[in-house]
Amino acid sequence: MTTERAEEEEEEKDEEQVVTPWDVSAGADGKIDYQKLVKEFGCAEIDERLIERIEKCTKTKAHPFLRRGLFFAHRELDEIVTAYEKGEKFYLYTGRGPSSESLHLGHLVPFQFTKWLQDAFKVPLVIQLTDDEKFLWKDLQLEDCRRLAKENAKDIIACGFNPETTFIFADASYMCPSFYTNMMKIAKCVTFNQAKGIFGFTGDSNIGQIGFPPVQAAPSFPDCFPHMFGMNKKSLKCLIPCAIDQDPYFRMTRDVAHRIGGYKPALVESRFFPALKGESGKMSASDPTSAIYVTDTAKEIKSKINKHAFSGGGATVEEQREKGANLDVDVPWKWLNFFLEDDEKLKEIGEKYGSGEMLTGEIKQILVDVLTPMVEQHQKRRALVTDEVLDFYFNSQKKPKVFLDLFREYEEREFCKWEKKASTSDSDDLCKALEQKLQLEGATENEEGCAIGAPKSEDWLKIRKARMQKDAPTEGSKSALKKAAKIKAAAEKKAAEKAAKAAAKAAKEAAANEAA
Ligand code: TYM
Repeated sequence: MTTERAEEEEEEKDEEQVVTPWDVSAGADGKIDYQKLVKEFGCAEIDERLIERIEKCTKTKAHPFLRRGLFFAHRELDEIVTAYEKGEKFYLYTGRGPSSESLHLGHLVPFQFTKWLQDAFKVPLVIQLTDDEKFLWKDLQLEDCRRLAKENAKDIIACGFNPETTFIFADASYMCPSFYTNMMKIAKCVTFNQAKGIFGFTGDSNIGQIGFPPVQAAPSFPDCFPHMFGMNKKSLKCLIPCAIDQDPYFRMTRDVAHRIGGYKPALVESRFFPALKGESGKMSASDPTSAIYVTDTAKEIKSKINKHAFSGGGATVEEQREKGANLDVDVPWKWLNFFLEDDEKLKEIGEKYGSGEMLTGEIKQILVDVLTPMVEQHQKRRALVTDEVLDFYFNSQKKPKVFLDLFREYEEREFCKWEKKASTSDSDDLCKALEQKLQLEGATENEEGCAIGAPKSEDWLKIRKARMQKDAPTEGSKSALKKAAKIKAAAEKKAAEKAAKAAAKAAKEAAANEAA
């Protein structure tokens, strides 16, 4: 092949690969070139070292999606980990555009991973349902999108998110002043030309679409959720798990973050769970034979896999036995990589199927056996999501106490550290010392606040003081109780010393008076 021809072919391929939040299609070779995406988008690949650090600081074995390179790219995930190693926390933000009655298996990927992150790092989570986005892009009424948002929320909740620390909201219902303020600030920083460059808008795009990106960008800033994180934009950093198709929204967000006074959100991004018919793109919610839905029956799962799953195996038994399967294109193999947890078993299947010892029918049966119980369990959990449960997750009045408690250990530790320092100075009053500490941190914002490193408010100060002055805390972790007891003992010791000093002084004065 001449160099010219090779270049032409490369260009053709370049033209064809499309990855945007609304469109994903592979290059001419039928594959998504992820390396190229990383380069084009300017994100980084996740390496072994970063995975090790995550395992170490969370004391949790990495999720298979991470171990197997399915979540493969990131933006400043390393910085989130560094901060976490120092004791700081962060919040997670992810979402769903409710365009269909139920989720397909591809949608479960970011949600299952987010659930793992929430448990491993013990951090709060916000989930955005972009009913407005789907109204603007699809042939759907806003009321339909609102209903679908609730239906999809049931599937999301069925993934097992912690109800105490998870807030789910749909844009058309939640929009509050602080959210709108963020949107406006972001919108003002992005020109139409920039939006065209990032999202490919044209003269035919409706103006709702053009104005939408700030809606998805805004939850990257904690002050969109005053009931959870207070009103300070820097109260907490944000980490966003998603597939790489959502990257353009957050590239834009990161570009404007410092201009609106916030931190750039960090991202952890996955490959696509391929369509049943082959790895040419994302699964399509509108083509039922390209996807398995979380509502599918066991019979449907079996039938779809047997009829439609693209096989990289030989065309005949003989050919398969002789040459083995092409694992690079085989959909059952790729799907098992996502959902078969057992590493050893997966390795064995890969070896046997790749070498021809295993036949296509066999690997398809294994996949049916893995997916059927997974989907059935999901359906059972979903059936438990009543309206009451939904209301709990959507409750924007949830008491900040749960979030305060979430950060309690950190606060206690920080306080002890500070107190140790303060004890070498003149201060003999713990509460005064605490006030000084908070003043140093810039206690100006009017928020109850729970966030790490956040400026603390008067209210928070009062709560904290009351807690420190209590004889014995009635709630909290063991270590928090221990620390509180230590602090109390230190306070009592100081008070006794002070009383002894005062008594000695009084005795001295009395003696002097007597002598006089
Ligand atoms: P949506 O509804 O298209 O997708 C929801 C989430 O699923 C991911 N995803 C996939 N992941 C792996 N394989 C697939 N085949 C696949 N298809 C979809 C998406 O990347 C996404 O993470 N605009 C968004 C909703 C949204 C959002 C967010 C997503 C709002 N805020 C913050 C992520 C993070 C949307 O329509 O997603």
